[in-house]
Parts: sequence; structure tokens; C-alpha cells
Amino acid sequence: MKFFIDTANLDQIREAQALGVLDGVTTNPSLMAKEGITGRNNILKHYVDICTIVDGDVSAEVIATTFDEIIKEGQELSELHEQIVVKVPMIKDGVKALKYFYDTGIRTNCTLVFSAGQALLAAKAGATYVSPFIGRLDDISTDGLNLIAEIRHIYDNYGFETQILAASIRHTMHVIDCAKLGADVMTGPLSSIEGLLKHPLTDIGLEKFLADYKKGN
Ligand code: G3P
Repeated sequence: MKFFIDTANLDQIREAQALGVLDGVTTNPSLMAKEGITGRNNILKHYVDICTIVDGDVSAEVIATTFDEIIKEGQELSELHEQIVVKVPMIKDGVKALKYFYDTGIRTNCTLVFSAGQALLAAKAGATYVSPFIGRLDDISTDGLNLIAEIRHIYDNYGFETQILAASIRHTMHVIDCAKLGADVMTGPLSSIEGLLKHPLTDIGLEKFLADYKKGN
């Protein structure tokens, strides 16, 4: 399972990279705005900065919503750095663009996916990644994890190579549940990754080992 961090915060990206388990980064316009990154040039520069920190894929989202504009913007983003994956929304022109990018060798991440049907369409169009938003489904009392299971089942039925990128991860249990269900990638906040290393018995055990060592030395 690949671990991506879902943020545009460079300090958090550096911290996750330093942990040694980071495989990539996802961003979106909201995450950019949260860090105060505004204006086209600043946003493009920020993507390059992220690429220099991490070794893996970095998703950069298009703002355009029509086919021609998505193609133009996606090409510009993909030329920024070899690690860039173009993030395209699940809309009709987005699906057409996914197919275009597939045919021209540009890697994509189909975002804002909330149903198995949308995920099937993204795979048919040749998306590299599909991003089901599990947290936002949970927010409206719909089982986000069930969507991961449905997509895994459908993709395995037909051998689709599109990778399931579980997005809108909110906490560590989401990460573990997505791993159980066979998601190829998870993207979440740093806290969802760091939560994996925590267990009270580890802390208690370490405290005892260190205390016993001190007794004999
Ligand atoms: O990057 C897309 C997705 O992960 C957004 O998550 O927490 O805003 O629902 P969230």
C-alpha cells in the first residue's frame, strides 16, 4: 500500500518524507488556499517545491472544467516536473480528458469520486489513479469504506490497472480499514500516518525496559 500525504504544507511534507514511508503527495485547490498559496505562478512554483521534497507522485489539480481547457492546463502541469500527476474532476469533460491524457502518456488522478459507477468510468477512461472520497461520504452518513470494497471488487473482476487511491482519509482507522480492503494507496493528513505507530502498551513496555536497564547499570 502506498502512503500519500494530503496537504500543501511543506513542513508536514518534509516531516512525512523524513519518516521514510512516504510515496507521494496529493493536493487540491482548498489545501493550497489553506497554506495561503494563491495566484497561478505561486501555485505552479509550489508544485515544483513539493516535487523536490518527495520522491514519488505529486497530484496537481486542474481548475478548468471544459475539455479544451483541461487539456491545456493538464499539459502545463505535467510539464512542470516528471513527478506530477494531473488531477481531473469526475465530470463529463473530465472523463474525455482522462482518455486523452491516457492516449498521450500523461498520468492522471480522477478526483471527486463518490460512487462505484464513477470509478468504473474513470478506469475505462484509463485513469492512473481514482480517488474515492471516503471521509466526505461518512460525513453524509454513507459508508465510505464500502465504496472502497465495491471498487476493489469491480476492478479485480476485469483486471483494471487504475489504482484505488483512498482519499478524504480522516484518521488512522481509515488507513487500516483501507489496507484491509486492498486500496492501492491512501492519502491523508500527517496525523493519520503518525497514528499508526502509537500504542499505549508500546509506551508502557519501553518505559519498563528502560527502567530495568537503569537498575542494572
Ligand atoms: O484531496 C482530496 C481529499 O483527500 C479531500 O479530503 O478531508 O477535504 O474531505 P477532505
